[in-house]
Formats: sequence, structure tokens, C-alpha cells
Amino acid sequence: MNVNDSEVVVSILGKNGYTLTGKAEEADLIFINTCSIRENAEQRVRGRLDHFRKVKSQYPDIKIGVIGCMAERLKEQLLDEEKMVDMVIGPDAYRDIPALLETVDNGEKAVNVILSRKETYADIMPVRLDKNGVTAFVSIMRGCNNMCAYCVVPYTRGGERSRDPESILNEVKDLFSKGYREVTLLGQNVNSFQWQHPDGHTTGFPELLDAVAAISPLLRVRFATSHPKDMTDEVLHVMARYSNICKSIHLPAQSGSSRMLEKMNRRYTREWYLERIQAIRTIIPDCAVSTDLIAGFCNETEEDHKQTLSLMKNATFDFAYMFKYSERPKTLAQRKYKDDVPEEVKTQRLNEIIALQQELSVQSKQQDIGNIFEVLVEGISKKSNEELFGRTSQNKVVVFPAEQYKAGDYVNVKIQDSTPATLLGEAVK
Ligand code: 5AD
Ligand code: SF4
Repeated sequence: MNVNDSEVVVSILGKNGYTLTGKAEEADLIFINTCSIRENAEQRVRGRLDHFRKVKSQYPDIKIGVIGCMAERLKEQLLDEEKMVDMVIGPDAYRDIPALLETVDNGEKAVNVILSRKETYADIMPVRLDKNGVTAFVSIMRGCNNMCAYCVVPYTRGGERSRDPESILNEVKDLFSKGYREVTLLGQNVNSFQWQHPDGHTTGFPELLDAVAAISPLLRVRFATSHPKDMTDEVLHVMARYSNICKSIHLPAQSGSSRMLEKMNRRYTREWYLERIQAIRTIIPDCAVSTDLIAGFCNETEEDHKQTLSLMKNATFDFAYMFKYSERPKTLAQRKYKDDVPEEVKTQRLNEIIALQQELSVQSKQQDIGNIFEVLVEGISKKSNEELFGRTSQNKVVVFPAEQYKAGDYVNVKIQDSTPATLLGEAVK
């Protein structure tokens, strides 16, 4: 999502005469787009700022802006803490960048951290930064209304709002006409997408997904993220109907313990989650499922943790993002609960979760050996010029000998082997 936001910012700056440079020393302006989701994300931003402080001491004319969630969270405080920062701009204030730049040109510091209930940047065509020319992100909504107890996002990105479906379809059609072959529809909770048309008709996520997939059978469609409480059978049926909607669902479980899920304010139980997994398996038998898991949330017992391990085995996740709980200012958990699981216990539990997922991921790839998958080629493999890499519909990375193929091609690849992260195969004629 931050990559896509940066693309919006680059588009706005482009209209004001700025072009991109890869070198900080050459820049007139450095923007650092930031994440507040966990403490260590913010620490990394501080590390980047230390680096830019050195660059600025050599090239004092460079202006530095902090944008995104950390800007929103810390507001003016950031100017006190990081003296060389000239601008602090929250995620809903990017349209104001030209005016803020003028303020800075007049020798003042500039801050805009006003959150909006409407802003979706619907009319701004993002400048694609990931230059493979094959895959692109398309934001369909912003913000979040879910108020999960641990999560800072509703405070830094504001309330949920959906983008006009017509602008989404236009952006996707434009990408397809430029040669892109895969779009990922982005939102904190795509399943609650909702757009009210003037005639009273409401477009929900299943209808939007259907319309995007209908643009061309040659355009793959992915989406993220789905909240389990809103993941309906209707969406699954749309997925099953279109071969170009990728058979991969990211469905963050967070915990396998109903007691923890309740404390987390996730509004589903372990049983509900596993029932949703069952529905996926029934309606889309070849669908991959990935998840997010948090180890050591407030008051988590060994028994709760075991429930998470057992949920993982039960759901047989193909992939997972796994985190230690990190207390965030202002959140419900910070205000109401004690961050009482000792650091060593959090680490221990996270390590157990990672080890189990490692086994499940290996198993998931082993099962693919001997089968043929349609791979959308994204580019040349990192390790060898003679090999290409791409993804299966299930979102697994495949590396295979390039032969005559190139980025943007669909190639049927027979899987022969796998490494921990990658499938290896050969094109079938
Ligand atoms: N601590 C640890 N992980 C968190 N996430 C969100 N907030 C926190 C937090 N305070 C994780 C959740 C979410 C993902 C994007 O980040 O798993 O799904
Ligand atoms: Fe955070 Fe929950 Fe919203 Fe996801 S759904 S962004 S975890 S509040």
C-alpha cells in the first residue's frame, strides 16, 4: 500500500515539474514514506533519517519530507525530534504537496496531517515505480474501520472509504492497454468495499471483482487484504468463475485462540475462521491461502499459543507473515491491556510459529512437483540471465530456463524441484 501511495506522490510531484532520481545526493527533495505498524518499522525509518541527515549536511539545499503513517502519528513532534525534516505530510494530504513545497521554499517548515473521510486519489494516475511493466497495484479503498485492538492503522490512515468503481476500471483498462498483465486490488479490508451510485445501486466487492476480471481473460487479478469476518461465499464464487482471478487468498488469522481473537476485537472465532477455510477448499479446491499471525498478544497463554499452532496445521497455510506483538500508542490494547508476555516468551513463540510455517511452506511446494502451472513471467531471475521468474495463480514464485520467453508471457511450466522459497521447472511445449 505504501508503494502505491508513493506512486501517487510521484504523480503529483511530476505535475509540478519534479522527476525521479535514484541518487539522494542529486535530489532537490527527498520524501520518505513511512510505516507505523510495529515499533521496528518506525526504528527503520529513524535509521533512514540518520542516513539522510548525513546527506543533508553535505548538500544543505536538499529538502526532506516525512510522509505516511509515521508523519500522521507523530505530527509536529517529528519536526522537534528530527531537526533536518522540512515537511510532515499525512496519508490524506498528498494533494497539498505543491502548496507545502511553496511554504518550504519560503523558508518555513510545512505540516499537513489532516485526515479525510473522502480522499481516495481516484483521479490521480499513479506513476508506476516497479518497472517490470507486468504487475501493478491498484488502490480500491483507503483507511480502516475495524479497530483491531493492537492496530494503529485506523489512527494513521483514518476511516474506511471506497473509491469510485468507474475510476478503478479505467485505471485497470489503462494498465492493460499499456501491456500490464496483472493487477492487485488493494485495501485494508477489500471485502467491505462499498460504493453507492447516484441511482441508489451499491457496488460491493464481488461485483467490482467481477467487473475487473471481465476486462480481459489475459489480465490476472489479485486482491489483498481480506478480513475473515467479511469473506463471503459470494466472493469465492466469483473467484471460481474466472480463471484469470488468481487462486490465492490472503486471510489474516492473527491468532488461533478464540479468547485472543475476542481480545483483539477481530469479531470472529477460531471455528468461524476454520469454516471459512473449509468454504475456500470446497468452492476453489486449488486455492492457496496465506495469513498473518501475531505471537505474544496481551495475556496470551501457552494454551492460546498452542491453539495458533493447531490452527496453522488445520488450515495448512501456504505462506505466512509472522510477527511479535508490538504495543502501539493510542490503540485499544495500549489503553486497556498490559503488554505482559515477556520478550523471551514472545520470541520463543514466534520461533515456533516460524518453524511450523517453514514445514507447511515446504510441504505446499513439494505437492506442486510434477504438476504443470501457468506462470506469468515477471522478469529475469536474480541468479541467472538465462532464467526467468514469474508466479503461479497460487502466488508461488517459479524459476525456469528462459528459452524464447519474456516478461508478460504466460508460460506453462512443469515443476521439477523446489527450494525453500521457489519452485523450479521447465516450460512445456
Ligand atoms: N504488533 C504486531 N503485529 C501487528 N500487525 C498489526 N499491528 C500489529 C502490532 N501492533 C500485523 C497484523 C496485520 C499485519 C499487517 O501486521 O498481523 O495483519
Ligand atoms: Fe488494522 Fe484490523 Fe484494520 Fe487490518 S483490519 S488494518 S489489522 S484495524
